[in-house]
Amino acid sequence: MEHAERRSENVALANFVNLSSAFPTLSAQIDVSILSSTKSFEAIFDTSSSSWAWAHDLSMACRLAAGKGELASPLNYGEILPESVFNVMHTIKTQHTVCPSARQVVYDLGSGSGRALFAACLSHPFAEAHGIEFLPALHANALQNLEIWRRKEVETNAPPLTEFFFECADIARINKLDPNPTLLLCHATLFDDDLFACVQIIAENCDVGTTFTMVTKALGTGLDTGIETLGSQQCKMTWGETTVFTQRRV
Ligand SMILES: C[S@@+](CC[C@H](N)C(=O)[O-])C[C@H]1O[C@@H](n2cnc3c(N)ncnc32)[C@H](O)[C@@H]1O
Repeated sequence: MEHAERRSENVALANFVNLSSAFPTLSAQIDVSILSSTKSFEAIFDTSSSSWAWAHDLSMACRLAAGKGELASPLNYGEILPESVFNVMHTIKTQHTVCPSARQVVYDLGSGSGRALFAACLSHPFAEAHGIEFLPALHANALQNLEIWRRKEVETNAPPLTEFFFECADIARINKLDPNPTLLLCHATLFDDDLFACVQIIAENCDVGTTFTMVTKALGTGLDTGIETLGSQQCKMTWGETTVFTQRRV
């Protein structure tokens, strides 16, 4: 190796060491907030793979009964893992900030078992959480999970911070969300162009300042949409790893 080349490699290594030792407190804080949300989630819900496999089976049975069993359907099921929700929420709160609103509201479009919403509410004290799910069996499962959540609140005497609203409905029939979301989650990996176009309209109709967490598919950006991308990160799902985009209505 040439002398100049070796020198620049050493400088890069030194910078790396300096940078990583400059942020021990920050990384410790990250670990603490994510660890405490993880512990709270585990104290309420089963986090073994059988819990999301159950929601997957409910979805499959419902789709087969409706003659919609094909693999590439937008109705196919997978979940974002709670730890990924905690990581994304941490990024939003520390790097992008959740825009303050009078009453902070979170939505999940295609909410399945509701667990992504529960995870979001363990990371941030949203006043309202809304889940919209097409398949009745998954909607019913989200209501059962809400019972589990409420039982835990009663057992631990925790004051209820969030009011939950689960609705069995088709995203394609919605134009505008009321109340407006502070944060909107959408696990859109298998959403087809038609369904994603509906999500885009819903997003463009949101108030300026709304934050979007989009799994795999980012909303269209640019002046005509009023949406910009703030960042992205790799996150784990029950089915593998994918990109999660953080975007904002501007
Ligand atoms: C990949 S799953 C995401 C579940 C959950 N949001 C999560 O991230 O863990 C997508 C969900 O969207 C639902 N879905 C698909 N098309 C829909 C539509 N048109 N209206 C409402 N929900 C829909 C599916 O049934 C499925 O439960």
